[in-house]
Amino acid sequence: MATTKTITTITVSTTDPTLHEHARQLAKTLNLPFEKDVDRESVIPRIEREKNSFLLVVTTQRLELRQLGKTAPGPIYTDFVSGSNAHRRQYGGGRGQPLARAIGLKGGHYPLVLDATAGLGRDAFVLAYLGCNVLLAERNRVVAALLEDGLQRALNDPEVAPIVSQRMRFFGHDARLLMRSAEPRPEVIYLDPMYPPRSKSAQVKKEMRSLQQIVGHSDDDDLLKAALTCATRRVVVKRPSGADPLGECKPTFAISSKKTRYDVYVTQEISTEEPIKNCERETGSAATQDGDTALPRVGGVEGEEQRRYIARTRAFKRLL
Ligand SMILES: C[S@@+](CC[C@H](N)C(=O)[O-])C[C@H]1O[C@@H](n2cnc3c(N)ncnc32)[C@H](O)[C@@H]1O
Repeated sequence: MATTKTITTITVSTTDPTLHEHARQLAKTLNLPFEKDVDRESVIPRIEREKNSFLLVVTTQRLELRQLGKTAPGPIYTDFVSGSNAHRRQYGGGRGQPLARAIGLKGGHYPLVLDATAGLGRDAFVLAYLGCNVLLAERNRVVAALLEDGLQRALNDPEVAPIVSQRMRFFGHDARLLMRSAEPRPEVIYLDPMYPPRSKSAQVKKEMRSLQQIVGHSDDDDLLKAALTCATRRVVVKRPSGADPLGECKPTFAISSKKTRYDVYVTQEISTEEPIKNCERETGSAATQDGDTALPRVGGVEGEEQRRYIARTRAFKRLL
């Protein structure tokens, strides 16, 4: 399925005059319009007239995405230190939670994971605090900016900083680029493709609807194919309960919770699980590599891509 995107308007602004230059620079990097003063009375009505309007606002606390309009959700931002991420870290069920079981966290083994649809990094953060090294790929530039902002702010928290700096590495491009160049290859690739939310009530669903307007649906079947070729152990796809498997490709097994199902495609036999036989993989080398859980070098991305990659990962420079 090709990427389909709602036409949206995103304007960068700031709540604080001392941050004008920073916001202007961000607008330039993201190739978006800039409005100097977010609170100026004339600005919001003018932007609101345009359907599906958003503001990407640099505040003194964080970067946040605000949808305009009466039924819009609250601001969307990434926060690894407090809120739902902190709650899940403390009370989320540890290694027994379905996501951890689907990834294959058992015994003393902590697989190297590529989260190929990182979004706001919530699932990746779970895997990182449980002990995995996680590469996060996010190709939408606005979502990537929100994620990077959250990762950067987390470095100021003494408890969360080691998780983020030692176990999470961000890649602001299409994950398929990384699948072609990561060395060592990820043992597990995790996919959580955007799916139309069905309930209209919860704030998180509203949030998802907003993000969906920005990122649209993508070529998920193709992403699954590439992942099946690259992952040395398994590919895990998050689906809503009751939904068909991605690309109608039957998983090796599934782990279900109330609202979510994790479809697991075993690409290399590690225990009694049978590797998948029924899904098409991309052509090319599928040689496997065992046991190396270090974060890989993300080489092989050349020229402009390399320059942008380095710029995006400046917060983690000392790790590269
Ligand atoms: C449903 S969201 C993921 C939410 C995420 N699991 C979380 O916990 O916050 C899906 C994201 O995948 C991204 N995406 C889709 N295809 C991608 C690809 N080929 N490479 C990188 N990112 C991709 C979209 O831009 C979107 O932000």
